[in-house]
Amino acid sequence: MKGKLVSVEGLDGAGKTLLVEGLAEKIRQRGIPVTVIREPGGSEVSERIRGVLLDPQNEAMASTTEALLYLAARAQLVAEVIQPALEAGKFLLCDRFTDSTLAYQGGGRGLDRDMLAALNLMAADGVVPDRTILLDIDPQLGRQRRLAGRGEVMEDRLESESMAFYQRVRESYLEIARQEPRRVYLVDAEKSPAAVLARAWEIVEGVLDSGKG
Ligand SMILES: Nc1ncnc2c1ncn2[C@@H]1O[C@H](COP(=O)(O)OP(=O)(O)OP(=O)(O)O)[C@@H](O)[C@H]1O
Ligand SMILES: [Mg+2]
Repeated sequence: MKGKLVSVEGLDGAGKTLLVEGLAEKIRQRGIPVTVIREPGGSEVSERIRGVLLDPQNEAMASTTEALLYLAARAQLVAEVIQPALEAGKFLLCDRFTDSTLAYQGGGRGLDRDMLAALNLMAADGVVPDRTILLDIDPQLGRQRRLAGRGEVMEDRLESESMAFYQRVRESYLEIARQEPRRVYLVDAEKSPAAVLARAWEIVEGVLDSGKG
């Protein structure tokens, strides 16, 4: 049986990582093994690319360079981890995936969306998430959560972007949800962690059940 892939998307501080941990625990309680993947990264080569992407010293990075590095990290992750896991029938939970490229590099940086979509297909080797949970949040609140969550730590290269940038990213995510309502499920991330998890669990259960028949 072919495996399943659920991606969790949303702005920085929306609660993706917390949600992925909560979902993974609930899936395991069902006796189903789950592989958790974090983008960018998740393989040795991809983690090195992640280091280049997030380094605040690389402030001169061009938008196209940034996009191609994300895509390169994804291509390696898909080849090394995701495709083999799907072939083995595993359940995969991805903390960010292809929609991040469309929202951040498309909406945020203004690169051509159709071109990015084509490159996404190449990097993901045709893998499209079975479902995507989009955690929607006001960028200000996301930023507050991030900073509160870890105290006065310096922001990485992308986190220091302006609020206008994050507004564009949010709009772009919402546009993807409008365009692909059967894949992308919008979840209000401003609610409590328990409420977000409960709603997301309904969405994941739909995928777990669809694998049975
Ligand atoms: N629904 C929520 N309500 C209040 N606080 C939350 C909620 N979800 C997550 N948090 C807290 O907000 C902070 C950011 O959450 P988290 O790291 O999961 O976000 P993220 O989307 O993974 O961010 P990033 O994109 O920066 O990795 C954490 O301290 C987390 O505990
Ligand atoms: Mg995170």
